[in-house]
Amino acid sequence: MLQFELLATEGLARRGRLTLNHGVVQTPIFMPVGTYGTVKGVLPRSLHDMNAQIILGNTFHLWMRPGLDVMRHFGGLHGFENWHKPILTDSGGFQVWSLGEMRKISEEGVKFASPVNGDKLFLTPEISMQIQTVLNSDIVMQFDECTPYETKGHLTTEAEARHSMELSRRWMKRCMAEFERLQNPNALFGIVQGGMFEHLRQESLEALVELDLPGYAVGGVSVGEPKEDMLRIMAHTPHRLPAHKPRYLMGVGTPEDLVEGVSCGVDMFDCVMPTRNARNGHLFTRFGDLKIRNARHKSDERPIDETCRCYTCAGDGQGHGGFSRAYLHHLERCGEMLAPMLATIHNLHYYLQLMQEVRDALDVGQFAAFRARFAADRARGV
Ligand code: GUN
Ligand code: ZN
Repeated sequence: MLQFELLATEGLARRGRLTLNHGVVQTPIFMPVGTYGTVKGVLPRSLHDMNAQIILGNTFHLWMRPGLDVMRHFGGLHGFENWHKPILTDSGGFQVWSLGEMRKISEEGVKFASPVNGDKLFLTPEISMQIQTVLNSDIVMQFDECTPYETKGHLTTEAEARHSMELSRRWMKRCMAEFERLQNPNALFGIVQGGMFEHLRQESLEALVELDLPGYAVGGVSVGEPKEDMLRIMAHTPHRLPAHKPRYLMGVGTPEDLVEGVSCGVDMFDCVMPTRNARNGHLFTRFGDLKIRNARHKSDERPIDETCRCYTCAGDGQGHGGFSRAYLHHLERCGEMLAPMLATIHNLHYYLQLMQEVRDALDVGQFAAFRARFAADRARGV
């Protein structure tokens, strides 16, 4: 169901190999987000071409639409979306957080109105496990409460963060029991919470480690906190998790955050940033970020990034693809569908290639040197 081997380490950074029911994942890895059973704006063929090894899906969204009967009919998410490499599903805990005012949290679970049709719905640890079992995702996330950073301008207090963390801890036990009852053949990950408080993070992780789960995530970051708080939690928590289990930092982040995360001992990342920003014309490159709408690209013949081997920048080697900044600028200005599609291919390729370079550096004990070069390149400017 899950095997994790450490292949090399450098400081806290790790190079690993994760074997799941639908295949092998080389870590550190970035996982593109495919909320509704599609990574927005890209063909699965493109994902394959850019060597995406594992993608995300979302319990909450797929439960709303198309629903479990359709999922069952297709034997799970892999068959439905016709993606046969590993899939990780988030539990709904974060999406419920995103609903804000629309929900009511109790010991039992979360009551809310469906954002699709207003129906009254109830999501519990047990129901989340039942849904994820039907989805048959390779990695199942526990149902948790993602502790907010602030609520209507009020910073989450230590007492509130403790209450939330302890609730997630109790929900973890219910997830485990239901996961076992369902004889789910995949891997269940626990999620460390505790808000911005290191001692709560410590308590949370100790309780989870005691349960001897196949993998662990750090949640409740990238929830609107200042960057220094995120870095503080990133430096505190991951390396305290068991060395021989995979570690997943949820919802992070920029290219700099990923490299920093690896140096703190993180193995897995996901974030909507490369896909969402692509749809807003925000491109990530080796030499810094670029807004394709900017008039300075109007007649620029160069690709987004001359060192990038993606379809958008370099083409497929058979005379297709390989576009100028000027062309992408034009497509964006005209609101053409191709603009976000090409931008998404480039951004995802950049994130996946960045992690490939991180892995290559770790393989030869050169991560520190890589990190310095990465920072210098990114600061150079496009
Ligand atoms: N995605 C980003 N952060 C979180 C979190 O804290 N919990 C869950 N379930 N998903 C997340
Ligand atoms: Zn590119």
